[in-house]
Amino acid sequence: MPKKITLPGLVDVHTHLREPGATQKEDFETGTKAAAAGGYTVILDMPNNPIPTVSPQALDQKIALATGRIYCDLGFHFGATKDSTKHFNLLKNKIFGLKVYMNHTTGDLLLEDGHILEEVFSRWPKGKIIMVHAEGETLIKAINFAGKFKSRLHVCHIATKQEIELIKKAKKQGLDISCEVSCHHLFLTEEDAKSLGPFGKVRPPLATEEDRKSLWDNLDSIDMIASDHAPHTKEEKNGPNPPNGVPGLETSLPLLLTAVSEGRLTIEKLIELTNENPRRIFNIPDQPDTFIEVEFTKPYILNPIPLFTKCHWTPFEGMEVRGRVKRVILRGQIVFEDGKISGPFGKVIFPS
Ligand code: DOR
Ligand code: ZN
Ligand code: ZN
Repeated sequence: MPKKITLPGLVDVHTHLREPGATQKEDFETGTKAAAAGGYTVILDMPNNPIPTVSPQALDQKIALATGRIYCDLGFHFGATKDSTKHFNLLKNKIFGLKVYMNHTTGDLLLEDGHILEEVFSRWPKGKIIMVHAEGETLIKAINFAGKFKSRLHVCHIATKQEIELIKKAKKQGLDISCEVSCHHLFLTEEDAKSLGPFGKVRPPLATEEDRKSLWDNLDSIDMIASDHAPHTKEEKNGPNPPNGVPGLETSLPLLLTAVSEGRLTIEKLIELTNENPRRIFNIPDQPDTFIEVEFTKPYILNPIPLFTKCHWTPFEGMEVRGRVKRVILRGQIVFEDGKISGPFGKVIFPS
């Protein structure tokens, strides 16, 4: 008999739902169905759409498009640009975090100019989270800005030993800094990237086995696990210029439950990393009568067929896992049970 346990609904502070502008990859319906199927009851959406979320109009459009169509609760982050700083104060109560892209990746939100970055860090309201995509050496720059402007810094998807060491040092120095890690960096390496080809192409890139191990060895210095669900179609991935990004909403919990069943992670730590810390750090409102039921199962193989994400593939295809989501209850209503979705019962949320 599988062992069934109840967990608080998972919280994901880092997803790319792609609507509006890139709905061939994902949209609010398919993305939040994938989230619910993966055990998430609340997710936060990133701003790097083709028309980026860098103005009140773009944010309002996302809110309007999502309302009434979502299967879990959904909040939004805002993008930093030279011009979006003027909206910070107006929008600060509607958005969870400011996202600063300090390296090249999907979309046009790259900010490298030191003067503009100073402007962004100095104008973002103190006490609210500033999230960075800052790989390797760039992370040093982000930490320096955060120190100078007394920012609440959240470092997205750390992937290397160097990055975790930088975070540990900054924490020791008393900076207000948190970080997340994603399952593709916890479970895959550059060796997998070779066989995955374009389907293993992601920023930050899949790293070495030593890097991967350093993330597990330093879980106590990592604040949360985020999916960084970044779907692209198979056609795009097989095309001449494959975009970076991998989906993750439906595979993270089975992978983490497998780590629990192997004794590499405790249930208490899993709850801290997927619910308590992200909720506290991002001021996510409470969800009464909300929980999920998961079961530890016989080993089974992850395959892309039952996935709700529009992209219908996973870099973890073929991996053996030992846990699955059985039921998801949001505010007393069943939104997912034995592979079936009901709803939409999700709400657009704002910071508490
Ligand atoms: O691989 C990535 N894909 N990294 C990012 O930072 C962005 C993401 C995307 O939006 O596709
Ligand atoms: Zn990123
Ligand atoms: Zn991302």
